[in-house]
Amino acid sequence: MLKPRPGIMDIAPYKGGDAKLPGHARVLRLASNESPLGPSPRAVEAYRALASELHRYPDGAAEALRAAIGQAHGLPAEQIVCGAGSDELISLVTRSYAGGGDEVLYSQYGFLMYPLAAKTVGATPVAVPARNYGADVDAMLARVTPKTRIVFLANPNNPTGTLLPAAEVRRLQKGLPGDVLLALDSAYAEYVGDSGYEDGAALVRDHGNVVMLRTFSKIYGLAALRLGWGYCPPAVADVLNRVRGPFNVPAPSQAAGVAALADRAHLDKARAHNERWLPWLAAKLTEIGLEPVPSAGNFLLVRFPDPALTADMAAEFLNRRGILPRKMAPYGLADCLRITIGLAEENEAVAQTLADFAAPRGAAHRAGAR
Ligand SMILES: Cc1ncc(COP(=O)(O)O)c(C=O)c1O
Repeated sequence: MLKPRPGIMDIAPYKGGDAKLPGHARVLRLASNESPLGPSPRAVEAYRALASELHRYPDGAAEALRAAIGQAHGLPAEQIVCGAGSDELISLVTRSYAGGGDEVLYSQYGFLMYPLAAKTVGATPVAVPARNYGADVDAMLARVTPKTRIVFLANPNNPTGTLLPAAEVRRLQKGLPGDVLLALDSAYAEYVGDSGYEDGAALVRDHGNVVMLRTFSKIYGLAALRLGWGYCPPAVADVLNRVRGPFNVPAPSQAAGVAALADRAHLDKARAHNERWLPWLAAKLTEIGLEPVPSAGNFLLVRFPDPALTADMAAEFLNRRGILPRKMAPYGLADCLRITIGLAEENEAVAQTLADFAAPRGAAHRAGAR
């Protein structure tokens, strides 16, 4: 009888955010941290322009895209490896550096693809207890063993939105043995307002055991095209280039990526939109007695503290009005929902709907505050 390798059948397939609601023709899709503004029109044009070239293989080396990324970020193009979404980079890194019996560390409430990738290669995922929903560097370092091969850290973290200060990320790197790879996942880097934030590029430049992972799925609004990249020490780039598929990034995705990088105005617009609406929504939800975790991303993890008004009930209430948040039980956060910052009217609809949902408690909360 055919049998997959040990560990594979323990994997719960990753379930993306819902996109449809029965009975609703128009749905407010706030479950996957996509950009409400969509991509740059220039990226769409570049994508369309390749429609007559679909019989051609893409450039397997993604030369133009790596050059454009290198230029935009001030990084050497030869140390950039592109992939079909940063998901593919997570998988490539794991396949390349961990195997059966090894351990892959990540923070509790970290992105679910990390344990999934670890299980795929027969490694043991180790979730290190979080502190205030974010990574606890001391706890992570304490959990490193001779079996540890990779430490994944999303900063800002999804789904909690928490930000680890640059000094803490550096302390984590410093405490790791040189043969443990630190994979810094900076999927939401462009949204961070904190001027002291570091995306991890400097750590990659200065150390042989750090990689930085990035994506075009979030602020660039190109999730459908599956486009991500990693900035790696030369030896790691060499390894990933051996393991990846020779044509792992489609030509239209590469072209759209180049065009997206050239449209700084669109990037600034998306950032400004988030800077306006993230604090607005957080304040509205706090006002009605809900507990949004301070977020550095384009989403809010919202805690529902009242056992009579649970996150599941809120999700149902939102669904009835055609709004799709992300349920958090798979992350062990069943008392929370994650809500992506949407268009102005979508954010207003979320605030109004949750105010209606929490009306009795909200009134009590306001009375208590007086
Ligand atoms: C922290 C983090 N890393 C990686 C990804 C994957 O992004 P991509 O679409 O590039 O595969 C996501 C997507 O939600 C994410 O939140």
